[in-house]
Amino acid sequence: MPEWLRSFIYDEMGGSYEPDRNAFQNNLSSDEEKNRKYLGTYFPRSFTESYCIFANLFDNTAYVEAMKIKDSVSILSFGCGTGGDLMGLLEAISEKMPWVENIDITAYDGNFNAVVMLKSIVEQPNNKQRFKRLKVDYAPVPMTKPDDFPLFCGVIKKSYDFVVSLKMVNELYRNNIIANKPYAAFLGELASKLTETGVMLLLDVPLKEKGNWLATLMSRGLREFLKSNDGYDAIVPLPCYVLGRKCNERCYLSWTFYGDIFASEPVTYCMLARKELAHSVCKGLSKGDYVINDSNECCKKVRGTKTIDAFNLRKN
Ligand SMILES: C[S@@+](CC[C@H](N)C(=O)[O-])C[C@H]1O[C@@H](n2cnc3c(N)ncnc32)[C@H](O)[C@@H]1O
Repeated sequence: MPEWLRSFIYDEMGGSYEPDRNAFQNNLSSDEEKNRKYLGTYFPRSFTESYCIFANLFDNTAYVEAMKIKDSVSILSFGCGTGGDLMGLLEAISEKMPWVENIDITAYDGNFNAVVMLKSIVEQPNNKQRFKRLKVDYAPVPMTKPDDFPLFCGVIKKSYDFVVSLKMVNELYRNNIIANKPYAAFLGELASKLTETGVMLLLDVPLKEKGNWLATLMSRGLREFLKSNDGYDAIVPLPCYVLGRKCNERCYLSWTFYGDIFASEPVTYCMLARKELAHSVCKGLSKGDYVINDSNECCKKVRGTKTIDAFNLRKN
């Protein structure tokens, strides 16, 4: 995390480090004080996860080739909270794709306090000066009933180069805003918002909810989505690109990212893109035994001769 951002969240905004997984299971109604704890504890983790995942994508030659013609990019951050994930993405863009000058962001979250904090961070001069134009539309409106999710997605008419959602779906599932098949439903509504070269990142905490491990629901949800949406492919984890919609394994997907601040915890995630881009991004990568989680388990369906990290889009 850059020094200006670290000092801004702790010294200026009063972020404090107080990890408590149970206390942060429902963040929609967090008040200002709780959001300051989130800012000091979980914002840096989301920053690191998002930064590492996108920096890895931006080291993929075919992806960068497709993006080289763009000096403007658009981002939809769905469940943005205080913005750790959004800031990690902006950091990776400014470092790895310096030709991008203009950024258009739609930041959606139902917690007004969190969105106010995100606004101060995004509009901090050190952040703004990195780009020629940085435009943000903030939408602090909560979803309170199941119909709200498709309704909200229905009013998003733009297409985005990045659709990013970190650690939100578990809350929507727990509170029955999306009562069943949460990841398939989420991908089903939001993947259509991707541009031709758009990439979607869906990441969550690997908790057990309603008797289901979310890290297993993630792989099932990805597969269910791919089965009924032929125009898209997974790019991460890589074996889901290779076998994707034809697989029926119950995989536990998890990975841990180590940042420079405090402890880290495993997360579960996947990324997808429209078919043509997914093919360019993945076709040159080596095949092998893909390690799909922190316990070093390998994908049982796609096998090879060497061991490969299933989440790595860099050529190896
Ligand atoms: C754990 S936080 C994640 C925030 C951010 N993406 C990050 O990684 O730091 C989950 C976010 O989802 C939002 N959220 C949860 N349920 C929601 C709902 N029903 N409507 C709108 N936002 C919701 C919360 O307000 C919270 O900011």
